[in-house]
Formats: sequence, C-alpha cells, structure tokens
Amino acid sequence: MKKSIFAVAALCMVSATAATAGEKAGDSTPAQDLEKYRSFFMKRFPGVPLQEFANGVNAVSPANRENWEAIEEFPPYEPMIEEGKALWEKPFANGKTYSACFAEGPGQRKNYPYWDANRKMVVTMEMAVNECRTANGEKPLKYKKGAITRLTAYMAYMSRGQKTDVKVPMNDSGAVAAYNDGKSFYFARRGQLNFSCAQCHLESAGQRVRTNVLSPSLGHTTGWPVYRSKWGDLGTLHRRFGGCNKQVRAKPFKAQGKEYRNLEYFLTHMSNGIEYNGPSARQ
Ligand code: HEC
Repeated sequence: MKKSIFAVAALCMVSATAATAGEKAGDSTPAQDLEKYRSFFMKRFPGVPLQEFANGVNAVSPANRENWEAIEEFPPYEPMIEEGKALWEKPFANGKTYSACFAEGPGQRKNYPYWDANRKMVVTMEMAVNECRTANGEKPLKYKKGAITRLTAYMAYMSRGQKTDVKVPMNDSGAVAAYNDGKSFYFARRGQLNFSCAQCHLESAGQRVRTNVLSPSLGHTTGWPVYRSKWGDLGTLHRRFGGCNKQVRAKPFKAQGKEYRNLEYFLTHMSNGIEYNGPSARQ
C-alpha cells in the first residue's frame, strides 16, 4: 500500500510541467481562466470533443471506456433515480413537497452552484435540498451518501442536457473572492504527499497511476452523483473531493463546508459549456 502511493508521487513529480506552474488566484479573470484551462485540455487531448469531457476518464482512456460502456448498458444507478423520484414526490409532514422550494421542478441542475449575493456564499444543489427540508420542518440529510444522492440523482437525470453555466459576477467582490479561494485550493499542494489537485488532474491528466488513469478536471462536475463500483453506491462530488484529499494523506474537509463549496464553484465554472449528464457510473 505504502509503496504504491509513493509510486504516485514519483509519477506526478516527473510529469509536473511548466504548463500551469506559478498559477495564482487573482492573476487572471474567471473568463480568462475558462479559456486557458479548456484550451489546455483540448490541446492535451486532440480530437476529444468538448462534451466528451463530461465522461471523465472514459473520454481519454479507450480501455476504461470499453468497460464503462458495458456498465452503462444496464446502469447500476437506474433504480436509484426511481427512489429519488419517490422521495421528491413524497410530502413532508407539513403536506408540502420539494416543489415548494424548487419552483422550476426537479430539472434545474443548471442553476447550481451559484453565488448568493445576499448571504455572501456559494450555494450548491445539495445545500438547497437541505435548506428546503429544514424550512419545512424536516431534518437535514447527510451530505456524502444516502438519501441525498437519490434526490440529486433524480434531479440530475431530469436535468440531463442542460449546459453548465456558472456565473461569477465581476462586480461582486465576494463572488470573485469565493472563486479565487476555490482556485487557490485547486492549485495548493497538501497532505503528506504534498500534491495539488492540478498536479494529478491537470498536469498528469491521461497518465496512469497504479491501476487508474487520471481524469482531466475539465468536465469533472457534470455527472454527479456518481455510482462508483468501489463504493457500491452513489456518492456526492464532495465525497469524492474528500477521497482525493485522503489519497495524498491530507485531512478531508467537511462536505458542504466553505472550502469544498468554493472549490466546486471554481471547478464547475471551468466546465462551462459542457452539458450535465448525471447520474453516471465510474469504476
Ligand atoms: C494523487 C493524485 C490525485 C490527486 C492529488 C487528486 N486526485 Fe482526484 N482522482 C485521482 C484518481 C486516481 C481518481 C480516479 C480516476 C479518475 O477519474 O481520475 C480521481 C478522481 C477524481 C474525481 C472523479 C472524476 C470522475 O469522473 O468521476 C474528481 C471529481 C476528482 N478526482 C477531483 C479532485 C480534486 C478536486 C482534487 C484536489 C482536492 C483531487 N481530485 C486530487 C487522483 C488524484
């Protein structure tokens, strides 16, 4: 176990290129970043159309893709979408349903995450689900797995085909700061292994680490919740962030805490223009 983790370290040290070295939050605007990161990936993977990046590692690794296509023939998450639909329709104790909070109905993945100017914070879809519950006298759900993934699987399914379009209002310094905070998190080295998200998912995207090929960050936010064979279940994006932090022996942050919400804001903005395709399956 120990040995193989250090093999990861060796790989990423070798492959760290100057492509994004010295990247600092605030050096460029969100619009410039979008252009820069998207073209970095499109050049790294010539011939892969933008929308394909919604499929994670399967967009860049033919071996993974074959396996994944077989899994998607009988999607393991399908019954969970049905469970989510039932939860969505089941009235709360007060007789209302989620529709009382989500005026556009379940298919509104495109509206999250967003910067809430009044509350001065990034609001994610999972958070909106729980805020709906507490506003209606129900207990909040746990954020990494379980019922929340059923509800968001149904919501994602009903939103398939919507385009990612995260706005960072440049006239709101709080929004820009939250975006830059997420960007700093992405480029910061952390954990005992001293690795940043960017080293694995940007500089080393497409390279093999042990049995895994590293997916590009472009499109990382479109397919959630994800059914992972390793989990044997659906999990949220923040569950995955926690797993990736643990891989480098860093302490994971709280799901839906400020750090991961700002990271999600940055990362989702990077995928602007790519259609939502959740829920999805991964190994
Ligand atoms: C040591 C390398 C490493 C680091 C550092 C790392 N990851 Fe990962 N990550 C992986 C591997 C391996 C996987 C599984 C294969 C894949 O999809 O890339 C993965 C998967 C993911 C996925 C799921 C992709 C999908 O399509 O299902 C996301 C999202 C992700 N990482 C985000 C992050 C973020 C954000 C960070 C920084 C907090 C990070 N990772 C840091 C190695 C890493």
